[in-house]
Amino acid sequence: MRTTTYTVKEYKKQKRKIVALTAYDYSTAKVLDNVGVDIILVGDSLAQVALGYENTLSVTMDEMLHHAKAVVRGVKNALVVVDLPFLSYQVSKKEAIYNAGKCLQIGASAIKMEGASESILKTVKKMASIGIPVFGHIGFTPQSVNALGGNRVQGKTAEHAKELLKQAKDLENAGCFAVVLELVPSETASLITENLNIPTIGIGAGSGCDGQILVTDDLLGKYLDFKPSFVRRYAETGKESERALKNFIYDVQNGKYPGINESFYMNEQESEKLTR
Ligand code: KIV
Repeated sequence: MRTTTYTVKEYKKQKRKIVALTAYDYSTAKVLDNVGVDIILVGDSLAQVALGYENTLSVTMDEMLHHAKAVVRGVKNALVVVDLPFLSYQVSKKEAIYNAGKCLQIGASAIKMEGASESILKTVKKMASIGIPVFGHIGFTPQSVNALGGNRVQGKTAEHAKELLKQAKDLENAGCFAVVLELVPSETASLITENLNIPTIGIGAGSGCDGQILVTDDLLGKYLDFKPSFVRRYAETGKESERALKNFIYDVQNGKYPGINESFYMNEQESEKLTR
């Protein structure tokens, strides 16, 4: 059954935890969908993880759409959300709506935007009013990495936690269907979760959230440049791939690949004609 923005709000009411992961390509999206992931985010972490940029600021709207199209083709059930990248929604409401609309036109079901400033809230309101579901994102917001002075935990004081709660409530009132809480203390995340009607999806935000999101390549041990402390690796596919690739190199260099069953042959009659 297709997961919708309505479904995830129901999950919160039922206290059923929501599982969200990132995907940037067709085959990964298909695996995530098959195993029952609720939300698949075409995150702008695409920048570092799949495109090798230093941070999320470099990825463009066109790059996001290119990968989002592949993800959409691989998904039958999950809710596909596309991150609006840096500068695609901050300059004007008109541009934001146009870019969000493009995500829906290629088959995604919602978009995600970072922050809760006055202008973001106005954009969320407008989007909600014209049928564009918005996933909010507060706490550490990677597109503001320069302003925040690095990947730092946010909401560490009671005062800042209350400020984040206000931001979350503002996003809910503006029409967001869910909100990501990134890099915040468990207490802050729980306070926000308990005071919202929409689900909170945590990343580095403790177990009190309504759901959890991770970068799939982190969880699978595939992206090896950096491992945030909140990540649990459920597999070491990077290391396993390295082992497999070394075996392939060895087999090719030593004439062990391809074997008989991995090759095609003429029938005997045709083959004989070659030597006549
Ligand atoms: O881009 C991303 O991967 C994110 C996280 C919340 C997973 O925004």
